[in-house]
Amino acid sequence: MKKNWAIFISGTGSNLGALLDLKGAQNIRLVVSSNAKAFGLLKAKRSGVPALVLSKPIDWSGVLKTLEQFNINAIFLAGFMKIVPTDFISRFKGPIFNVHPSLLPAYPGLNSIEKAFQDKKPLGVTIHHVAEMVDSGDVVVQRKSEAYDDLNISEFLVHLSEHRLVREVMSKC
Ligand code: GRF
Repeated sequence: MKKNWAIFISGTGSNLGALLDLKGAQNIRLVVSSNAKAFGLLKAKRSGVPALVLSKPIDWSGVLKTLEQFNINAIFLAGFMKIVPTDFISRFKGPIFNVHPSLLPAYPGLNSIEKAFQDKKPLGVTIHHVAEMVDSGDVVVQRKSEAYDDLNISEFLVHLSEHRLVREVMSKC
């Protein structure tokens, strides 16, 4: 079935930007942001994609209603920094993907790249289905990323890999 996507963001929106540049970007029907000042909202505006800024606290039932209005049947959490409640996950009829900057199950949560880098462990990216436990759903794809002796370069390469992987997953859906 054709996917109508909602992309959830909280900040820069570099993964959103990578998705908006995709050929199939016309299927991105809505951007949802937990932050009214997210730079990613400017990317949505520039691409003519409607955006919803979430209230504080987030009205997840209201989010479901808006998703229904836009016929959304697939969600990508792309740099989204809020926990999605289990009730929402079970009520939303469609896949929910998340991109995480580590080789899960290693380094869930925040500052993953820096922690793996300092521990001299492999760096990489995981895209997984969103399940009840944070950063725990079935892995869709994982890719290792080259580590340099400079954290900034290593971090940049992880984000580059994220952008490639989110595009791969969306274009295969
Ligand atoms: C990315 O590493 C994402 O995986 C993490 O936040 C970072 C920024 O994402 N959750 P974006 O630039 O806002 O897409």
